[in-house]
Amino acid sequence: MKKTVRLHDKTFELFIPHEEIMKAVKNLAGQIEAEVKETPVFIITLKGATNFGMDFAKYFNKNAIFDYIRLKSYVGTSTTGKPEVILDVTENIEGKDVYVLEDIVDTGNTLEEIIRLLQAKNPASVKIVALFFKPEAYTKDYELDYVGMSIPNKFIVGYGLDYNELGRNLNDIYQLKQ
Ligand code: IMP
Ligand code: MG
Repeated sequence: MKKTVRLHDKTFELFIPHEEIMKAVKNLAGQIEAEVKETPVFIITLKGATNFGMDFAKYFNKNAIFDYIRLKSYVGTSTTGKPEVILDVTENIEGKDVYVLEDIVDTGNTLEEIIRLLQAKNPASVKIVALFFKPEAYTKDYELDYVGMSIPNKFIVGYGLDYNELGRNLNDIYQLKQ
């Protein structure tokens, strides 16, 4: 039997162990470290990508600037459409190579809004780094620049990801039990 956790009214079962997540994070950081030239700006998307962002920082061994952005789109286990900006970046990103560190890309609505927002600030480039990606749920044409792991279209929690604010502190990833 798989390990399960109960969050609010739902049960989730173990899906991706912590070590596997860390391998994916290390791999992404290494790839980007090898190719950056100027000091990059990493934008961590709150709240979901906080664990990812901090572990990414541990594995990224060149100078880098970190900033945060926060949009909200999910209520419960389904997306609400247009994401709302709750906190904008504070660093000047004009002329900088920007990498958005996203915990998960689902429909791509949030991503699209983030790209639009950041492009308006005239960075040299904007690239998307998604730890998890749900290709079956994705509705956009924009090709993700870096993907840690592609996963089936099922709701997950843990490692920063929540179900109505619970589950973020789980070290492993759990999947909604059918
Ligand atoms: P999108 O706008 O549909 O791509 O959804 C992106 C945002 O919704 C992510 O940044 C997460 O905050 C949240 N989200 C999407 N899928 C999941 C999931 O499976 N578990 C928890 N949060 C999710
Ligand atoms: Mg997010």
